Amino acid sequence: MARSPTFVEKDRPQEAAVRAELLHGLQATPAVVSPKYLYDALGSRLFAAITELPEYYLTRTEASIFAREIDAMADELPAGLTLVDLGAGNCEKAARLLGPLRISTYVAVDISVDFLRDALERLQQHHPEVDMLGVGSDFSSRLVLPAAVGDGARLLFYPGSSIGNFTPAQALDFLRQMHPAAQGGGLLIGVDLRKPVEVLEAAYDDPLRITAAFNRNLLRHVNQLVGSDFVLADWRHRAFFNSAQSRIEMHLEALRSVTVRWPGAERAFAAGERIHTENSYKWRADDFAALLVDAGFSAIRRWTDERGWFAVFLARV
Ligand code: AVI
Repeated sequence: MARSPTFVEKDRPQEAAVRAELLHGLQATPAVVSPKYLYDALGSRLFAAITELPEYYLTRTEASIFAREIDAMADELPAGLTLVDLGAGNCEKAARLLGPLRISTYVAVDISVDFLRDALERLQQHHPEVDMLGVGSDFSSRLVLPAAVGDGARLLFYPGSSIGNFTPAQALDFLRQMHPAAQGGGLLIGVDLRKPVEVLEAAYDDPLRITAAFNRNLLRHVNQLVGSDFVLADWRHRAFFNSAQSRIEMHLEALRSVTVRWPGAERAFAAGERIHTENSYKWRADDFAALLVDAGFSAIRRWTDERGWFAVFLARV
C-alpha cells in the first residue's frame, strides 16, 4: 500500500503567552518584537518573494553549494538516516537531499503543522520509499522532538542561515540543544558570512521594497494578535549593518509621533523612535566552526561558494 505522511502537533502556542510576550516587547525601551511574528501567511509569502530577489544572495548561494557539493556531503554520511528539517516550510530544500543522502525517514518541523500538510503530501508522492512525518512545533525556544520521530540516527537540517537570527549566545544554546537531538548522526547547517557592507545592506533593503513590506507586515500581524491599532503608513522600514555586532538589524521607525492603543494600554512613540524587529548575524566561518565545537559537535566539514559569502557546515555528534 502507498505510504502517506503522518502529522503531529506539539505544544501549539498559547494565545495568552503570545499576547504577554508581544505586549512586554511593545512596552520596552527600545521596543522589540520577535522576528517569528514576521511569518503570518502573508509574511511567509513575502519571505518567499525575498528569496527570489537578485539582491538577496543567501538562498541562491546556499543552493549552489548544495548542488556542487552534495556528493561530497553524501560521502561523509551513512545511508538510512532520519533527516529532521527544522523550519521546513515548503520542504523544497530538503527535497533535493532525500535521494543523494539516501535518507530513509524525513521529519518536517514547522511552527504549525498546517503549513506542512500540502508540501509533505506532494513530496511523499515523489518519494514513496521514504517514511514522512510532519511536526508542528515552535522549536525556537526549546528543541524537543516527539517520540514519533523514532530512534534512528538523525541528521538535523537547519538551512538558510536561520541560525543568524539568534544572538551568538542564543545560537550556542540552540546548538547545545541540537547536539543530543541529533542522536547518533549530526547537523547540516547553512550560515551566512561577513562580506562588504553594500552587499549586505542591499540584501535587506531592496529597491522593490519587498523586504520593507515584509517588515511592515509585522505590524498587521501584531494588530491581529493583540488588537492594537498600528497604522502601517506611520512606519518606515530601516535595515543597516551593525559592524561592531556583525549583524544586519531591521527596525520599524515612526515617521511622526504616534500613540498606539490596544485593549487595556497604549504606547506613545516619538518621531524617529524604532521597534527592533530582527537581527541577522553574519559569521566568520572559523568562529562558527568554533561555536559548533563549543556546542559539543566534532568532525566538522565546511563548504563555501567561490566568493566565500555563505557556508554549509556538516558536524557530527
Ligand atoms: C529567515 N532569515 C534567515 C532571513 C534572514 O536573512 O535573516 C529573514 C529575512 N529578513 C529579512 N530578509 C530575510
